[in-house]
Amino acid sequence: MGTNLFYEAEKIVSRDHVATPRFVVENIYSLIDIPTFKSLWFPFNHYDSQFKLMADELKLKYRATHIFDDLGNDFFTTEPPPNCDLMISNPPFSEQNRIIERSFELIKENKIQSFALLLPLATLETEKRANLFQQFEDKLAILIFKKRIKFLGHTSSFNRGCCWICYNIPALKERPIQWV
Ligand SMILES: C[S@@+](CC[C@H](N)C(=O)[O-])C[C@H]1O[C@@H](n2cnc3c(N)ncnc32)[C@H](O)[C@@H]1O
Repeated sequence: MGTNLFYEAEKIVSRDHVATPRFVVENIYSLIDIPTFKSLWFPFNHYDSQFKLMADELKLKYRATHIFDDLGNDFFTTEPPPNCDLMISNPPFSEQNRIIERSFELIKENKIQSFALLLPLATLETEKRANLFQQFEDKLAILIFKKRIKFLGHTSSFNRGCCWICYNIPALKERPIQWV
């Protein structure tokens, strides 16, 4: 996949584009035992994403899509790959409500079997999100970062307290709440 000029420009101006550090990806891949999944979807990830680069190294089967890829793959209208058993990504936090809603819709429609979304700790706030999480609490797992994550954008960086909101991940079944 060659360099995409729209994507490179977007990275410079968008507050939603921040890169996930490598250690975060290594940590979650280990916690969820990623090689046990057979068809992964990275819905907010382009060629430079550590989710994708590390999946290549591990020779995992995945589909990476991004709003600025060649097909303009918008998460809200893109279909997961066939037999998708895990969707994992660091989504744009500014759209988190719609993203969480669609993720649970995809679960209900049986289009994905499980997901892991990296979100700010404040995702646990608001009655609306709380009610949604509660509806799915039987298979929910929450991994809470002890330290804030430093996200690097092009011109700025920010530190944010984060958690992984996970649904139906077998490796997390016995310990659905962990500090990592
Ligand atoms: C927080 S960044 C994460 C970037 C990269 N996946 C990583 O983890 O290093 C979220 C990315 O999602 C892209 N994005 C925003 N809205 C999108 C949508 N509706 N569908 C797909 N990608 C979108 C943004 O352009 C941004 O690059």
